[in-house]
Amino acid sequence: MELAGTSAIVTGGASGIGAASARALAKRGARCVLIDLNEELGEALASELGGLFVKADVADPEQVQVAVDAALEMAPLRAAVNAAGIGTPGRTVDRDGNPLPLEKFEKVIRVNLIGTFNCLRLAAAGMAKGDPVDADGSRGAIVNIASVAAFDGQIGQAAYSASKGGIIGLTLTTARDLSAQGVRVNTIAPGLIDTPIYGTGEQADAFKAKLGANVLFPHRLGTADELASMVVECITNDYMNGETIRVDGGIRMPPR
Ligand SMILES: NC(=O)c1ccc[n+]([C@@H]2O[C@H](COP(=O)([O-])OP(=O)(O)OC[C@H]3O[C@@H](n4cnc5c(N)ncnc54)[C@H](O)[C@@H]3O)[C@@H](O)[C@H]2O)c1
Repeated sequence: MELAGTSAIVTGGASGIGAASARALAKRGARCVLIDLNEELGEALASELGGLFVKADVADPEQVQVAVDAALEMAPLRAAVNAAGIGTPGRTVDRDGNPLPLEKFEKVIRVNLIGTFNCLRLAAAGMAKGDPVDADGSRGAIVNIASVAAFDGQIGQAAYSASKGGIIGLTLTTARDLSAQGVRVNTIAPGLIDTPIYGTGEQADAFKAKLGANVLFPHRLGTADELASMVVECITNDYMNGETIRVDGGIRMPPR
């Protein structure tokens, strides 16, 4: 998939993996529409990249449709990256015997799983409007960001693991559905990636160094650029479809 002269949608595009993906796609010539709730960071990056920021909740159909329409107005929509995500921890039953409030579980599922599917379906419908770009009939490519927590979820990650497992579950199914439109779907499951998700400052740095020591090799957190490189590969390699790829330095997460 050639990206020059196309548009792309990146959710969670204001920060971390989404922001690095948007930079990488823009480098290849895509005009990026960043979807995020963080207006300040989103606006700043969009103007740096010559793209557009749309403040939207990924799980809101109307708000996301505004972003898809904006992308289609700029250029044919050929790529979408679903990187928006949250991770509210909480044990299934806490030390005092209280069960996890169901609203907490629902919120994570809503943003991570329903939000991803919402953006995937609306972006795919936008891509389907374009003409095929090659003899294969390709119209676009979508990359979802799951997590290794889908496979080895840690204590307190039931909602997060379920949401990311759901994304992996829908990867092959949506790739099959969208084969009719010439749209490919892949998912990346990152390990520990150095993004603002871990906070900033001395304490956060010490925490990240400790986390990094458990990575098989190299003994450090991954960078957002290393993740973005795989995002670009999934989009531009026309034979990549229906797969989930761990990008995690070989780590297998322990229970805690
Ligand atoms: N950093 C890691 O170690 C790691 C590991 C595995 C998976 N992931 C996943 O990678 C993705 C990106 O994470 P990151 O580390 O870059 O985090 P981040 O916090 O830097 O970025 C996430 C972005 O998503 C946005 N967002 C949150 N809820 C939203 C909503 N409802 N609608 C629109 N935007 C919303 C946030 O405002 C933020 O800008 C997430 O899905 C996360 O679960 C991250």
